[in-house]
Amino acid sequence: MYIEIKNAVKQYGQGENAIYAMNGVDLSIEEHEICVILGPSGSGKSTLLNMLGGIDTLTSGSIVVNGKDISNISKKELTLYRREDIGFIFQSYNLIQDLTVKENIQTVADISKEPLDIDELLSALSLEKYKNHFPSELSGGQQQRTAIARALVKNPAILLCDEPTGALDSKSSRDVLRMLEKVNNLYETTVIIITHNEGISKMADRVIRIHDGKIVKNVLNDERMPVDELEI
Ligand SMILES: Nc1ncnc2c1ncn2[C@@H]1O[C@H](COP(=O)(O)OP(=O)(O)OP(=O)(O)O)[C@@H](O)[C@H]1O
Ligand SMILES: [Mg+2]
Repeated sequence: MYIEIKNAVKQYGQGENAIYAMNGVDLSIEEHEICVILGPSGSGKSTLLNMLGGIDTLTSGSIVVNGKDISNISKKELTLYRREDIGFIFQSYNLIQDLTVKENIQTVADISKEPLDIDELLSALSLEKYKNHFPSELSGGQQQRTAIARALVKNPAILLCDEPTGALDSKSSRDVLRMLEKVNNLYETTVIIITHNEGISKMADRVIRIHDGKIVKNVLNDERMPVDELEI
């Protein structure tokens, strides 16, 4: 078991105002899987991803990744985990506005152990032409591809994607998903994708459905559908 989440609870607020964004989540994800997470708005999808990414901490329960309990390690170890093992594509792109496309990617490469070649990534994501542009000069799809390149450049073991196609048309969505599929095949990256698009679930090994902070369904696909054949 590569990722093992046990009885994970995340409470926001106290007393009458308490919200359980995660309310007893148990989930195991194998290495090299593509896992798609679906669920209504407010059901706790981003919360789950943030916990997995070591961005926020659980109220109770545990998250063990590759044998290490990230809900119970020092701040220093958690920083290393985030830096070395996790690539995060945020729901909003979170690009640094006064850096160019290439510089946004470079800042992450600079603190990575074995970064991928930036020019190869720019080419794979059709961003060469835009490498000296600032985020404000890019379309949504180009910004999303930059955010993906930034998450990929460190060649993370786990790639966490929070609605990576949420703001994109179907062609750009397919380009982005093709890239995630490729990374999973090429580097054996474990890829976790949150989406509202049912069609995307067919590219997954595992499909998780969340409701009110609980996992209500966890299904394995016998066969993954290639991204080129998805109806999205
Ligand atoms: N920092 C916070 N403080 C208080 N409540 C929060 C916080 N973050 C999330 N929540 C609450 O936790 C619940 C789950 O939020 P979350 O962002 O995980 O939902 P989601 O499934 O990602 O929704 P969406 O599809 O709209 O992105 C919501 O009720 C939300 O209001
Ligand atoms: Mg969300």
